[in-house]
Amino acid sequence: MADVRPDTMERITTEALAEAFIDEQIAAIKAQVGNKRVLLALSGGVDSSVVAALLIKAIGKNLVCVHVNHGLLRKGEPEQVIEVFRNQMDANLIYIDAVDRFLDKLAGVAEPERKRKIIGEEFIRVFEEEARKLEGIEFLAQGTIYPDILESGPVKSHHNVGGLPEDIHFEGLVEPLKLLFKDEVRMVGKTLGLPDSMVYRQPFPGPGLGVRCTGAITRERLELVRESDAILREEFANAGLQGKVWQYFTIVPDCKSVGLKNNLRSFENFVVIRAVNTIDAMTATIEPIPYDLLGKIVARITSEVPGVNRVLYDLTPKPTGTIEWE
Ligand code: XMP
Repeated sequence: MADVRPDTMERITTEALAEAFIDEQIAAIKAQVGNKRVLLALSGGVDSSVVAALLIKAIGKNLVCVHVNHGLLRKGEPEQVIEVFRNQMDANLIYIDAVDRFLDKLAGVAEPERKRKIIGEEFIRVFEEEARKLEGIEFLAQGTIYPDILESGPVKSHHNVGGLPEDIHFEGLVEPLKLLFKDEVRMVGKTLGLPDSMVYRQPFPGPGLGVRCTGAITRERLELVRESDAILREEFANAGLQGKVWQYFTIVPDCKSVGLKNNLRSFENFVVIRAVNTIDAMTATIEPIPYDLLGKIVARITSEVPGVNRVLYDLTPKPTGTIEWE
């Protein structure tokens, strides 16, 4: 398959069109890989999940999925990957708990680009080590989509977790989504039976919560990010905002402020809420969250997340802010 989308290619807007695409790709994958085995780094993001579901349909257990938990995933994500792919789809899934390894490597590292580099490189290292243990893997599958091919020159280094291992030779690459736009990938994922919570997920950066726990990451502050993010997502879902706002998440800066808790002085971290809308992530506007919803979120975070005494709402559009804080 060439890397240029032909003008004649119809946009996949319905399940019927997605079914035709799926049948076509299953035949193409079978023709490309035959009885050989294929390796996939499965992060649980939309693209790698759709590739996994497609390959499971095409070659079943000859697909080997590797899910690396780098400790920077959102609450419930590794569990969902195991539930959907191992338990429901009966996939050949290797789960790697690399949490300590990543957090040890990141300890004391405060510079944002350095953090991204460590996360990206360590991911490839863990993945390569695992790939070497597996014998007879001939192909590597990737969730490349059309915007990945079109994109150039980001402001920050975008180390997409799932980068290509350089030291291992594969007979070929399997990239069934490489001519599709995001909305088409979602339609294919839905048609393949993936849960809505996976198919309609908001974008999530490769370095994960690591760029939302600013400065040097500590396990304590990472938990504050994870727990406050889970509350924010739950409240957005309850308010019917899921799928209507491009991206919403929390940040925990490496900074404390004085507050008052249970009539006692507290000196604790604060949580920043960011909720933005955008078309292409190059510029972004602020989502005007209703005040009563904001109040509810503040009350829940300050009472349910120990170690937080204050919540702020970032009102800065992009530019001058970027969407992520690092
Ligand atoms: P910024 O912060 O540059 O983010 O305004 C623009 C969009 O890109 C996402 N983002 C990333 N996505 N790997 C990714 O796959 C990354 O390293 C990365 N960094 C930022 C960000 O969440 C936003 O949607």
